[in-house]
Amino acid sequence: MSDPQHGKRLAAAAALEFVTEGMIVGVGTGSTVNLFIDALAARRDRIAGAVSSSEASTARLKAAGIEVLELNRTGDLELYVDGADETDEHRRLIKGGGAALTREKVVAAASRKFVCIVDDSKLVDVLGRFPLPVEVIPMARSYVARQLTRLGGQPVWRENVTTDNGNQILDVHGLRILDPPALETAINGIAGVVTVGLFAHRRADVVIIGGPTGIRRLE
Ligand code: A5P
Repeated sequence: MSDPQHGKRLAAAAALEFVTEGMIVGVGTGSTVNLFIDALAARRDRIAGAVSSSEASTARLKAAGIEVLELNRTGDLELYVDGADETDEHRRLIKGGGAALTREKVVAAASRKFVCIVDDSKLVDVLGRFPLPVEVIPMARSYVARQLTRLGGQPVWRENVTTDNGNQILDVHGLRILDPPALETAINGIAGVVTVGLFAHRRADVVIIGGPTGIRRLE
């Protein structure tokens, strides 16, 4: 049985290879990214700072002595490093288990290279075993849920969670996502949806998978 912590640590350390002198690094959210931030702290004097995808990562970056910059001021970034809840062999992802999907999608879109770091439990043949997160504006929640049911899923409201943007999350169970770009487009088209946690149109450029015998890269 592989140890996810070990795999996450290996993947996070391997992502440092993409960090170059003077760079502003886009930083995602989650337990794997936390390990990346810890590793990045040792290089804080050699980077220009970071753009964060969540309040949680902002707090951890600042605690590590890394300056956090606003995307509105930096322009596009060279590099974005983030985890995922699932990846397929084509580097299409499900994200949003930590409810940070909207800012993650924005920073990924604004970055030239997206490096995704995961342990080997995240690799699947077909996306959808992990419930697909959808961020919705609160007054649209029930309407969006009915539309997601029509698309074949079983949406469940993640109660007691408010996103960094003041919105709510529906987790869609029971999907077997055979055409990720088409489903991403369809869900994005529902009124009231802020973001769907499918990263298929802007997928990862590199996925680093950590496992018991080391790392493997999809690219
Ligand atoms: C945060 O909203 C997510 O997109 C994370 O990237 C994802 O949940 C991966 O988290 P872990 O690294 O904790 O597994």
